[in-house]
Amino acid sequence: MSGTDILVVGATGKTGRRVVEGLRRLGERPRAASRSGAVRFDWYDPSGWRAALDGVDRVYIAPPTVPDLAAKQVAAFARLAVDNGVRKLVLLSGRSARAGSERMLALERAVRVPGAEGIVLRPSVFDQNFSEGNLRQSVIGGTIRLVATGNAAVDFIDAADIADVAVALLTAEARHEPVYELSGPAAMSYVDAAALISKATGMDLRVVEVEPEAWAAAALAKGAPADAVDWSLEAADGVRAGFYATPFTGVQDVLGRAPVTFDAFVRAAAAAGAWS
Ligand SMILES: NC(=O)c1ccc[n+]([C@@H]2O[C@H](COP(=O)([O-])OP(=O)(O)OC[C@H]3O[C@@H](n4cnc5c(N)ncnc54)[C@H](OP(=O)(O)O)[C@@H]3O)[C@@H](O)[C@H]2O)c1
Repeated sequence: MSGTDILVVGATGKTGRRVVEGLRRLGERPRAASRSGAVRFDWYDPSGWRAALDGVDRVYIAPPTVPDLAAKQVAAFARLAVDNGVRKLVLLSGRSARAGSERMLALERAVRVPGAEGIVLRPSVFDQNFSEGNLRQSVIGGTIRLVATGNAAVDFIDAADIADVAVALLTAEARHEPVYELSGPAAMSYVDAAALISKATGMDLRVVEVEPEAWAAAALAKGAPADAVDWSLEAADGVRAGFYATPFTGVQDVLGRAPVTFDAFVRAAAAAGAWS
């Protein structure tokens, strides 16, 4: 059955939460879906998908990071969504698709369903990894250990900018580009990023680059899932190869304003107590 609501899949995550908030500010009625969301949704349990889609005509999909989420699950969900009246699917992909990641490219193909508009967002690395994600505890502990990339530059992006772009695309009537490459306003190394965090917080944050094999062995020894380790190695390959070194204009193109700077993100996160 077709409706007028927007389903946000991954609604408790870094972008999904902000997409829900942005849609509410516009007076929309987003349905916040995930395993722990208001609308129950599990990628590994299709029995709940149809109920989540009831009354929905647009969907934002932020898939979990784990690479074992097969594109065929997303493709099956996207087909069901379109059969149930969805006419627009906005997928959170990532820069690694541009870097040739077959996993990401397969996810992107999954939302190209006849009868609906499939839009792909390809952001760089999120600022919020430092404040809400996998690096937060490392920041608090004073040392970030990364897969070595030769201190390559990354055009970090604020998750709020990704969410603002998603909200704009979900709520505008016009047709859009099939792919939006999104980044922050400037590229910097993790060492530069750590220096900005140190300056804002008074902490003494260090970055240590670890050779990929040693990094993977340490992560596996600490209990990290093998597929998540592979994913980190693949992402580091893209950074080392320079795929994150040149900012894109996607945020400015869609929103008509510049993206949030890393420095502004750091000051806001510190003021909100992210590392206290
Ligand atoms: N972080 C980055 O720097 C970055 C950069 C580019 C692209 N991306 C992409 O962005 C996506 C999200 O990453 P993120 O860092 O934003 O993740 P995140 O904040 O951890 O959010 C993941 C979301 O997925 C939900 N989820 C997890 N397992 C699920 C399952 N089995 N069924 C349904 N929902 C599930 C989680 O909610 P529940 O736990 O409540 O289910 C949560 O809402 C990934 O595909 C990643 O590749 C991330």
